[in-house]
Amino acid sequence: MNFDEIIERRGTHSAKWDMMDTFYGVSPKDGISMWVADMDFHPPKCVQSTIDSFAQHGVYGYYGDDAAYRDAICWWMQERHGWSIDKDHIYSTHGLVNGTAICIDTYTKPGDGVVLMTPVYYVFSKVIESAGRKVVECELVNNNGRYEMDFDTWDMQMTGNEKLLILCSPHNPGGRVWTRKELQGVADFAKRHDLKIVSDEIHHDLVYPGHNHIPMSLVDGSINDRLVMMTATSKSFNIAGLHTGNVIIEDEKLRAQFEQRMSGLGISPNSLGVFAATAAYSPDGAVWLGELLSYLGENRRLFDEGINAIPGLSSMALESTYLAWVDFSGTGMDMGEVDNRVAKTARIAANKGGVFGKGGENFRRFNIGTQRSRIVEAIERLQSAFSDIQ
Ligand SMILES: Cc1ncc(COP(=O)(O)O)c(C=O)c1O
Repeated sequence: MNFDEIIERRGTHSAKWDMMDTFYGVSPKDGISMWVADMDFHPPKCVQSTIDSFAQHGVYGYYGDDAAYRDAICWWMQERHGWSIDKDHIYSTHGLVNGTAICIDTYTKPGDGVVLMTPVYYVFSKVIESAGRKVVECELVNNNGRYEMDFDTWDMQMTGNEKLLILCSPHNPGGRVWTRKELQGVADFAKRHDLKIVSDEIHHDLVYPGHNHIPMSLVDGSINDRLVMMTATSKSFNIAGLHTGNVIIEDEKLRAQFEQRMSGLGISPNSLGVFAATAAYSPDGAVWLGELLSYLGENRRLFDEGINAIPGLSSMALESTYLAWVDFSGTGMDMGEVDNRVAKTARIAANKGGVFGKGGENFRRFNIGTQRSRIVEAIERLQSAFSDIQ
């Protein structure tokens, strides 16, 4: 796979490239899009050829006989994460935001509190609020550019109204791969406050060497009756537009409740997404993923080196994900001025940190899942946009 090859995405109904002007005021003509989390790469050949055969066959009826899909998930989780899953515990949703929304609907009532460790993936709070539940922000501690959990403070915040905790593991943004001790802390916290846990592990395969993702399900068997696991092929294999996520629930009672809600909402699998996911979780998919991770690793090294050379800017050392989280507080600038320089001077569309919740205000998120030449160009533009403080 030649990850350096520029693929034209403008004019293809890409949210990332065709909405950058609308959302960030950055023209796609000469702007660089580094916001939403999809990459500018083709998926592996095994995925593309499955999609090609599907299109060649040319009959687009309802999907059925999902044994291969379930087997592929079980194989991948065992092989890569040492996690044995019962194939009957898997549900296919229309992505993980959809999975999260169903969980909120199933396991909480309007007015209940849903705990987020902020800053965190901003769509969680949108979904919680839209469902009439309350977002309870437990702020992570930024310890010298590394997020850490703060259970003592969080314990004091709990009122008894909180019913669910959404864990983002590995963490977006900030890229932490939580350790077993931290995850055990989450399990204990959930038990102390009687919270169900939805563990969103969508970034589970985008982990850099030296770090080890541990599925929440393997941390503490005593939380299985309060745990919903969510994984997907969408981020790792760049097929997010196919909207397919896997929700895995070991506990029978939680499963029955989830299943009833799914059927109440009329959710059934998206055939194209399920075909692609089945093809991705394969030995060929694993080889491609290895190559992708080495490419992303070099992007990460280059980007951090370039950003950290700008006085006042600091890029968090990512342990996972392709979402660089840059702290602009050292510039002493007001964030409106930072945005002006990023969007107008550097012509880069990057996510604003405030939407990720408490603690994100002074950050901007840059998607480095793109061709190396674009990373180099983005660094040069940012260095120039902030050159007066050098
Ligand atoms: C933590 C997390 N969960 C969910 C999603 C989106 O998932 P989906 O496209 O499957 O709804 C993202 C996308 O960036 C994410 O970072």
